[in-house]
Amino acid sequence: MVVQDTRRRPLRDLRISLIDRCNFRCPYCMPAELFTEDYQFIDRSLRLTPDEIARVARVMVELGVEKIRLTGGEPLLRKDLEEIIRGVSAIEPLKDLALTTNGVLLAERAQALRDAGLRRITVSLDSVDPEIFARMSGGRGELDKALAGIRAAQEAGLSPVKVNAVVQKGVNDHGVLDLLDHFRGTGVVVRMIEYMDVGTRNGWLKDEVVSSAELLEQIARRWPVEALDARYRGEVARRFRYADGAGEFGLISSVSQPFCGDCNRARLSSDGGLYTCLFATHGAPLRPMLRGGASDDELREAISVIWRRRADRYSEIRSAQPETPDGAGDGKVEMYRIGG
Ligand code: GTP
Ligand code: 5AD
Ligand code: SF4
Ligand code: SF4
Repeated sequence: MVVQDTRRRPLRDLRISLIDRCNFRCPYCMPAELFTEDYQFIDRSLRLTPDEIARVARVMVELGVEKIRLTGGEPLLRKDLEEIIRGVSAIEPLKDLALTTNGVLLAERAQALRDAGLRRITVSLDSVDPEIFARMSGGRGELDKALAGIRAAQEAGLSPVKVNAVVQKGVNDHGVLDLLDHFRGTGVVVRMIEYMDVGTRNGWLKDEVVSSAELLEQIARRWPVEALDARYRGEVARRFRYADGAGEFGLISSVSQPFCGDCNRARLSSDGGLYTCLFATHGAPLRPMLRGGASDDELREAISVIWRRRADRYSEIRSAQPETPDGAGDGKVEMYRIGG
């Protein structure tokens, strides 16, 4: 059974945030001055267990989910990550299982993740300049460790390894060509993401967005490139290849060219909230059902109702407005709670 929402979008993609904590403090996500040592993250007892995660995932695969991405915060902060992966990777018929990480804890764990059943990995990495990297991680991350994590992932066969870079004007935009150059010819697929107004904490300004169109112009001036066809309907990144055969890169234009029309993504927070949009203000709490003795049928029916009622298209609405009206988007969920 495949459920469809009010705009006839099927449920295909599930993104599970395993923990809301992170060892980084990227200014566009968890600014260090707001997320101090005494910041109240979700209490551990509220975090879904590996069995609970696998159960929700299985029920959602029965409703049409084909692709699952494990995210955070930083998912490698969970000691039971391998157990979670074992549970989720055993679900049939799942087509794709990926994980998003900042990579600094990856080197020593890549093989174990692969052995547990993870198929591929995406590392968030905004710059190959050690100083800018350090600044964009809020002074918490070392570039060499993230690069070692990427190499270890490649060696472990977690392929294709992708790198996601959020481009922020005046912060890392002048290093975009260096970042691409670093990974040309290595098999790593770099994707440039437009800086988005997710959450309420990053003080987003439209002026800080570098559009994919601007980036593409810059890139094509340096290397001849060719556009590639989307691999499936609703693919988030627009894909390109270097004409000289040095590989592929992608552009994610969530601000300048919203892709809500084909959005088939649901998000689960680490405490079991089901969100139908990255910009949602509310999630449906599944934890009380999971811990209150609900049957699989009841769980499936509840999720199915949530999806069938879904009408979200935040980015489309947002882009139709020149600036966010006062108060619009107040109370939006934070990205570190529901993953990217
Ligand atoms: P692949 O399957 O590897 O192509 O990746 P993906 O489509 O799962 O995308 P990924 O998780 O790498 O997402 C990259 C970035 O795109 C995220 O960090 C977000 O910034 C943005 N993004 C992904 N999904 C959405 C979405 O549904 N809405 C919006 N507005 N942005 C999204
Ligand atoms: N805009 C765009 N992407 C973001 N991410 C986090 N915050 C933002 C934002 N404001 C991305 C990170 C990472 C993923 C978890 O989400 O770069 O790839
Ligand atoms: Fe952590 Fe990722 Fe947010 Fe950076 S963007 S603070 S690495 S969750
Ligand atoms: Fe999907 Fe919401 Fe992103 Fe639009 S803004 S693509 S509906 S998650």
